[in-house]
Amino acid sequence: MKVREFQKKDPDQAYAIWKHGMSVDLTEQRIDWIFNLFHVRLILLALPLVVLYCGYGTTPVGFLYAIVPSGLLIAFLRYMVHYTLNGYVATRTDMLNIQKHHGKRFLVAENEDGEIIGTVAYSEKTKISTFKGERIGKKTWEMFSMSVKKEARRLGVANKMLAELEKRARGAKIQNIVFTATTPQVPAVIFYRKCGYDFEFEDFPALDRGFIGAIIADCFFKFCKMNIIKFHKEI
Ligand SMILES: CC(C)(COP(=O)(O)OP(=O)(O)OC[C@H]1O[C@@H](n2cnc3c(N)ncnc32)[C@H](O)[C@@H]1OP(=O)(O)O)[C@@H](O)C(=O)NCCC(=O)NCCS
Repeated sequence: MKVREFQKKDPDQAYAIWKHGMSVDLTEQRIDWIFNLFHVRLILLALPLVVLYCGYGTTPVGFLYAIVPSGLLIAFLRYMVHYTLNGYVATRTDMLNIQKHHGKRFLVAENEDGEIIGTVAYSEKTKISTFKGERIGKKTWEMFSMSVKKEARRLGVANKMLAELEKRARGAKIQNIVFTATTPQVPAVIFYRKCGYDFEFEDFPALDRGFIGAIIADCFFKFCKMNIIKFHKEI
């Protein structure tokens, strides 16, 4: 397997891997995250008991009443996962023309059969300017769009792509690499920490869904203990 710069023949394979990582994986990771939270499980178990305590659900048919509130909560939380993620892939119009927007700053991992199995990109213009209250110098790259094909995971592909990106950064006299992930992206968070990245938590920015939509999304993120994680490494 080798890591190389994006080529004109790569768009379809690279886009498919990136899209899977940013939509399917992210959705599954957020759902897993939420339903593994202790307080969410507790509420889902307690709600039927509350209904029973209130005198409903004492007959076999009435028992259905007891599970309705938990069912509604599950449906609402799942809906909110889609609501808060909806549109992210669509907003990334840069990915429709990788060559034009990223060029050699877009790296791919290619296996022995010439198949693309991973993507990662970096930008010399960073949106992140501080870390743990300190300003980060201008010699910084921001990494994004790290994704590995599902069938090729846990084989060291991401490791190799990040190592290549860091090597290029050192070659360009870059001093810092920064990027963000979110708390439900557990495999990625474990991986970045293992690679020596320091991190800090941040709240999700307000969602662009109108006043009420933004408030509901904010409450959802807080209830589900979801945060942005900002990563930084001095190289
Ligand atoms: C996160 C991701 C890029 C990792 O890619 P990968 O090629 O499987 O990672 P590697 O094989 O290089 O793993 C390196 C180390 O990271 C950690 N790691 C990776 N995946 C892990 C998992 N599912 N669970 C626990 N640790 C994991 C391990 O420590 C691993 O080393 P090990 O296999 O020797 O134990 C991949 O899972 C992915 O594409 N996820 C979906 C998209 C995504 O979340 N991208 C991150 C955007 S911020």
